[in-house]
This record gives sequence, structure tokens and C-alpha cells, in this order.
Amino acid sequence: MKKIGNVPAEWGSLNTLKPLSKRQVDEKAKDLLSQMTLKEKIHQMSGDIPLVSGVIEMQLAYNKRPYPAGENIRLGIPGIRFSDGPRGVVMYHSTCFPVSMARGAAWDIDLEERVGDAIGVEARSQGANFFGGVCINLLRHPAWGRAQETYGEDSFHLGEMGAALVRGVQRHIMACVKHYAANSMENARFKVDVKISERPLREVYLPHFKRCIDEGAAAVMSAYNKLNGAYCGHNGHLLRDILKNEWGFEGFVISDFLLGIRETVAAVEGGMDIEMPFTWHFGKKLYRQVKRGRIRESLIDDAVLRILRQKIRFAQTGEPERYGKHAVVCDAHKRLAREAAQKSIVLLKNECAGKGKKPLLPIDCGGISKIAVLGKLATARNIGDSGSSMVRPPYVVTPLEGIQAALASDIKIIYNDGKNIQSAAREASVADLAIIIAGYTHRHEGEYIPLPPKGGDRKCLSLSTHDENMIQRVISQNPAAVVVMIGGSAIITENWREKAPAILMAWYPGMEGGHAIADILFGKVNPSGKLPCVFPKSEKHLPFFNKKATSIAYGLYHGYRLMEKNRHEPAFPFGFGLSYTTFVYDNIQLDKPVMGVFDSVRVLVDVTNTGNLTGEEIIQLYAGFVNPSVERPVKELKGFVKTELAPGERKRIEFIVTADQLAYYCEVRSQWVVEPGVYRMLLGPSSRMEDLLEAQLRITD
Ligand code: BGC
Repeated sequence: MKKIGNVPAEWGSLNTLKPLSKRQVDEKAKDLLSQMTLKEKIHQMSGDIPLVSGVIEMQLAYNKRPYPAGENIRLGIPGIRFSDGPRGVVMYHSTCFPVSMARGAAWDIDLEERVGDAIGVEARSQGANFFGGVCINLLRHPAWGRAQETYGEDSFHLGEMGAALVRGVQRHIMACVKHYAANSMENARFKVDVKISERPLREVYLPHFKRCIDEGAAAVMSAYNKLNGAYCGHNGHLLRDILKNEWGFEGFVISDFLLGIRETVAAVEGGMDIEMPFTWHFGKKLYRQVKRGRIRESLIDDAVLRILRQKIRFAQTGEPERYGKHAVVCDAHKRLAREAAQKSIVLLKNECAGKGKKPLLPIDCGGISKIAVLGKLATARNIGDSGSSMVRPPYVVTPLEGIQAALASDIKIIYNDGKNIQSAAREASVADLAIIIAGYTHRHEGEYIPLPPKGGDRKCLSLSTHDENMIQRVISQNPAAVVVMIGGSAIITENWREKAPAILMAWYPGMEGGHAIADILFGKVNPSGKLPCVFPKSEKHLPFFNKKATSIAYGLYHGYRLMEKNRHEPAFPFGFGLSYTTFVYDNIQLDKPVMGVFDSVRVLVDVTNTGNLTGEEIIQLYAGFVNPSVERPVKELKGFVKTELAPGERKRIEFIVTADQLAYYCEVRSQWVVEPGVYRMLLGPSSRMEDLLEAQLRITD
């Protein structure tokens, strides 16, 4: 095992031979604390990398090795050793999974937990004990530069996906949930003040964080932005009142890097426990403030106890036989990366092309001799953002390579990068079929790094004019054309959507993405992904967004909730995705028509695979409100299940909905309220109302 500082990278003196109970962990933490000087305690609370050389190192190659914080050699306490994510382990050369938005489109809790497990194993095998990559910020607007790092726009879905990643990672190392909270804009992230009242904060922007805390996440990273005037890293309402006191979070809070803390006293009083990744506002400055009596030592003790408890807890965690070089980018993880990409691809449209008699996909290779693959992204190693989430895998399978590997040698592939639209269209005209790969790269969207400037919020939500022209010209020459889109969130397709017979959304599909795209195109795998964010017809249907805003109001509505409120029809609804088979829903039932405010109800439905292929279906449960006394969205997601069905197979699917899941947050009473009345239980394959079956439930006092 690699040595990072002077304490070996495993758990130093914290390792015990047998697992400790929660009480024993607590006692051990208190015992260690009692042996520490004030300086030692304060040393637990910030990064161990020297500021100047650290900044240079980060510029040259961010997180190539773990970033340590709070190592204590005298007491044999290792520091936390930070590795970033979320699309894999950022350190060294690790497995690159599809981005989180793609994994969100898989709606697959078990898969996400397995991805978390693989990340945990690879991180620990390379000397980290802390994964800073559970990003669950809500996608409020698809222009958000870091959209790809989160799972989607819906709080319930985000919570379940984030909790699954936490579960998987924490079999091996600590998981950190970020960026707390309301961090949904990029360029202005260091200065924007998000104005939000208590109800949307509690109902829309926080429940997914609570879900991950309840799952046992060891740490939380604060966001850069301000919330109602106070930086999130100093925000007592967020960090102390809600996270630590109300939710009972027992882990610790780390700052986002560098600008996550602006001032010593405000940060500690606000509830910050560790300044990352350097010692700047903490360290000596913090020591002086305690000595001057400006900060109570009890706050320091509380922070250090939180840190020690998690270190001790995770010193008892793991499966040592699984760690080592052999585990990094091993065959099992490559297969997992491919499976995750296959399951994340969304089939948005699949119609007959020209005079064809059946849908264009899956491509039927019988009778085909020539395929044109078009667009410069077909040959790009395009795995997403190049900011702090950038993973450096040993290889990336491009879409063209994936298609080549999937096809028999008697089918000719012509590749044209599409720079010259005429020539691309000419190639398409002499081929049996055209596959166009179009979309974004890290140049168009990603984490905004001011120096040198890169990434940031998207300038526009459509494909480039060049790509749109190419798609239209190609289709005019050969109607048998499939468009495969690459990007981190919703793309507006209005200029060409009607003309294209087949459209796939492949997101940033990771190092095995090219294979996965080919698996879907040629039918080796039946597509099962569904959109984790609405694809609008127009930017006008989205909430206000200004990437330079210094202040912005967040409310109850965005995404499908906003579009339903305003009766705007989306191009592709939230939760939508096609399959090569068909599913029929019937027989919705509740186990009781009436329940009390502390009760729960079972909601059941039958789903049948009525096609000829085995397929996976994502069944969604929404709750709507009949005559609520307060403003409520038309409906909200309350459950989802992914299940595989063989042709002809019928399954009874069950959800349990508790009354408190139907509550709203009452600002007057400062509490959650379950309102007696009638609720709509809506079940089906997407959020589109016409797709949903309904049963009504009455809640009584
Ligand atoms: C990002 C975090 C990241 C941190 C470490 C920040 O700029 O916002 O997500 O974990 O850097 O690089």
C-alpha cells in the first residue's frame, strides 16, 4: 500500500481487530480527542497540502494523487485522503464510467450501487479513503455547466440515486455528498446569492441531501454560492440548524476547494469542520481566534469529534482482499462501465425511415452492405468535463470504434467527420444507412475554471447550427439516418426532430461508451434508459437563467413541474424512453382507498411485456393533488422500479407510499404538513399524463 504522509495509507492506529459498536466508536473518538492539544485538534480541520505548491500541482494535474487532510503522526491518525469523482476515481488511471446524468437515465439503483462499489474499491486500492464525488445538486436548468455531474432534475430520483452511490462507495471508504446546497449554476458559482424561501428549499432543493444523510453518508461538501445572503460554507441555517441539528447528521462538513470558505470565524460558527484542500483560513488563524476567545473551543471539539468518529468508523470497513493494483480498471469494472452505458442510453424516437416497413432500430444488418458514420464526435474520446470530475482512463472506445467492432467484416463503414456537409451528405446517399454522432464536448459545458478559462454554463441548448444543418442535409439524402446525441443534459431538437426517424441520447457514456452505443444500435442490448430531465421544445419553457447573475430566485417550479404548471408540452417528457419491445400497464390498485396521516398505502399495477424481446422497464409512480389548500405542482415523482420482463411476461409491481411523502412544507408553522384530502396515485412509463393510470386515495385526519 502506498504511503501518502508518514502514517501508512491504511488506517494507522485506528485499525482494530474487531468491529466497534457505535458507542465504542464514540468512546474511542472522545479518548483520542482528550489526548490532543489545541493545535492538534485544529490540525484535524484542514488540508495538509502546502498552499502555493499545492495550487501549482492542482493546475498541472488535478487530484493525480489523494489530497490528505488532518494527518496526526504522533497519535497515528491518518488524514482523510480525498479522491474526486463522480464518473469514477479521478486519481491516476481509473475506470471511467458514464457521467452521473447518464447513470441517472438508467434509473437503476442496484447498478448505481455496483458502480459505487467499484469506485470505492479503485479509490482505496490507490490510497484514498474518501470519495468526494456524490454530486446530487438539482438540475434546475439544462444550461448548468456541471449538469452531467448530477443525476437529473427530480429530488426523489436524485436522492435514491445518490443514496445508492453512497451505499456502494461506503463499503470501502467515506462518501461525501455535494454541493450543499442549491448549487445549480456554474459561471457565477463563487458569487451568486440564491434567494429561496423555506418551502422550495425543503421540498425541492434539500430532500435528496437528507436521503443521503439518512443512508449514512460520512461527509458533506458545502457549495460555493451564497444562500439567502450567507455563503453556504458559513451558512448556519444550512449546516447547523438543518443538517446537524434537525437531520441529526453525525459526519463532518468539508469546504468546497479554495473559495468554499471566506472567513475563519464565520465558517466555524456556521458549522464548517474541514477546510479543503489547504490550510488558509483555518490553521494558525483559527488557533489565534480560539486563543482570543472569538471562537469557543467546544465548537472545535465538536468538529474534531465528528472527524474522528468517521475515521474510526471507516477504519473498521472494507474487504482487504479486493484492494490492490489488480482491482483498478479490472475486467469486471470495464464490463460494469459498459453495462452502465448500455443502460443509460435513451431511445427517444424510433420510426420507419422512408418507405421502410419497420422502425429503423435496431439496425438489421441482413441486406446491408454499407453504413456511413458521420460527425467529428464519432472519433472523439469524449467522456465529458475536463474539470475536477475528469477521470483519466487508460483507453476510451469511440463511437466509430464501437461500431467497427460490432460489425461483420462484409459490411463496409465509411467515416466522414462532417466538416464538409456536402461531402457527408454524399457519403450518406450511397450508404444503406447513416449514423450521425452529434453534440457537445468539455469545450461547450463543464466546470467553470477561470484561470485559464474553461468549461462553464452552456451558451445554447440546441446542437450547433453546423450539426443541425448536417443532420437535415443527410436525412434529405438518405432518410435511413439515426442521430446519436452526446451531452450532459437536455438538448433542444426542434429544428430537425420531426425529420429524423431515430434519435438516441447517449450522454457522455464513459470509456466503454462506443461499445455501448453499438450494442444499442445493432440490438445486442434492448434500450431501457429514460430521461432524468425534461427535454423542452423551447428555452422559453424553462425557468429564468442568467449565467452572470449575482442574485437569483429559486422557487417551487422547474423542469417537468414548471412545464406542467404552464401547460407547455415538452419535446420528450421527464421519465420518457422507448424500448425495442412494448409494455402495457393495467389493473392499478390501492390496498386501501383511505388512510390516516401517519399511515401508508400499497399501490399496485400489472406490467406486461407485449412485444417479442426481453426488455427492462422503468415504472414510475407520481402523486398528484386534488383541490389542495396550498399551491402544489400538478404531480411529483414518489417512486420508481426497474424490472426485466420476458416476452409475454406479466409482473405485479408494488410501491409503498407513506403519508409523510405527500406532505408539503408549511412556512407559517415551520413544519411538514400532511393535508387531509384526495390524492392522485399515477403509475406508468413516463411523466406524460396520457401514459399514466390513476387511482385516488383519501387521507383523513
Ligand atoms: C468543485 C468540487 C470539487 C472540488 C475539488 C471544486 O471546484 O466544485 O466539486 O470536488 O473542486 O476539486
